[in-house]
Amino acid sequence: MKVLVIGSGAREHAFAWKLARSPQVQAVLVSPGNGGTARESGCRNVPGARVAEWLALAQHEGVDLTVVGPENPLAEGVVDAFRAAGLAIVGPTAAAAQLESSKDFAKAFMMRHGIPTAAYATFTDAVAAHAYVEAQGAPIVVKADGLAAGKGVVVAMTAGEAHAAIDAMLAGNSLGSAGARVVIEGFLRGEEASFIVVAHGEQVLALATSQDHKRLKDGDQGPNTGGMGAYSPAPVVTPEIHQRVMDTVIRPALRGMVAEGTPFSGFLYAGLMIAPDGSIGVLEFNCRMGDPETQPILMRYAGDFAVLMQHAATGTLDQVEPDWDPRPALGVVLAAAGYPESPRKGDAITGLPQDTGDLHVFHAGTTLGDDDVLRTSGGRVMTVTALGGTLRDAADRAYRGATGIVFDGVQLRTDIGHCALRQHDGT
Ligand code: AMP
Ligand code: GLY
Repeated sequence: MKVLVIGSGAREHAFAWKLARSPQVQAVLVSPGNGGTARESGCRNVPGARVAEWLALAQHEGVDLTVVGPENPLAEGVVDAFRAAGLAIVGPTAAAAQLESSKDFAKAFMMRHGIPTAAYATFTDAVAAHAYVEAQGAPIVVKADGLAAGKGVVVAMTAGEAHAAIDAMLAGNSLGSAGARVVIEGFLRGEEASFIVVAHGEQVLALATSQDHKRLKDGDQGPNTGGMGAYSPAPVVTPEIHQRVMDTVIRPALRGMVAEGTPFSGFLYAGLMIAPDGSIGVLEFNCRMGDPETQPILMRYAGDFAVLMQHAATGTLDQVEPDWDPRPALGVVLAAAGYPESPRKGDAITGLPQDTGDLHVFHAGTTLGDDDVLRTSGGRVMTVTALGGTLRDAADRAYRGATGIVFDGVQLRTDIGHCALRQHDGT
């Protein structure tokens, strides 16, 4: 079969790499792809940036199955367009993708279906939003309603920060239409985990759990980013918590989407806050796999991922069991100078480690020039991902690979996996 992967990040490189290893797959097209997918065996980059272009590409190339990486094409209706043309695709319709594309939709949906999440209110009027913050006090969280590429959330430790965020989003228009409406919600404490399932209507298979690190700097300091590293599994999700997440978050969400006439298919990602007493709060839903979570998760997938994706596209998930490598995996993101505010592009990259079965470098912001030189072309440049006998081994292997890579101004965290490693090392 011929497969198309839509997107250009390290998540999509991991999809393409895994799909290309399936005996069922003859070719993987990646659109638009990056410098890593350009060199990945069995993969070919094809330009594309809009739904109509991807549809024409799939029809022209005779693509049998399409997997969508990022949220924007989903919110723009790529799944609706492919399905209308009779093409198999993994992902939610634009209506179902509102679980991610509108925070207000997601919060109201969770309230309607009794899914645990922080109390909230939604505002378009700055005066009313300021009054709400005054009434609630800090810490409090201000979120742009729409898609803002990870920049739409301000966790305000003081009322002043919350007021400033409201002014920037509602009055200052800092995020454009995405921030023309804001959700303000209660601050939840605990440890975060990413809980991702693949679903079709009420059929559901949980993928391996994971945890990412959103802050730029060690010790979870500095600005929020798209993610500086991730590992799988996340020990904070004990078997008991796993069951509770399925029963109180995932199944009610899928049932609710069916009941509301917008059944969900594809990857459903619940960002969770797990409090010390084990209680669960949903921070957000995403309608796609996480990035960087996909990189360690797919390193651990031991079954045929193309077969799993086919079942997801055709609604036969009850006929397949996911198969996991028991070894943990950990991915370290190398980011460009200036990330996240204004990443610098065009720096030459050298020192990439050899990819092996236990180590793979998944590219994101890279391009491969005609001179065969790899250069930075975006904020998150690559995720160096490794499997290990223990999480510590996986971390050591990933960091050994990462520290050999050289480009001007490279930024990386040195403490990916610290929560789980502390427990693991008993410190
Ligand atoms: P989101 O995009 O909604 O997941 O928010 C981005 C990050 O902000 C999350 O990964 C959390 O670290 C933090 N965050 C979001 N909502 C809350 C909340 N209600 N309480 C505490 N932290 C939050
Ligand atoms: N790593 C967070 C996300 O993909 O949304």
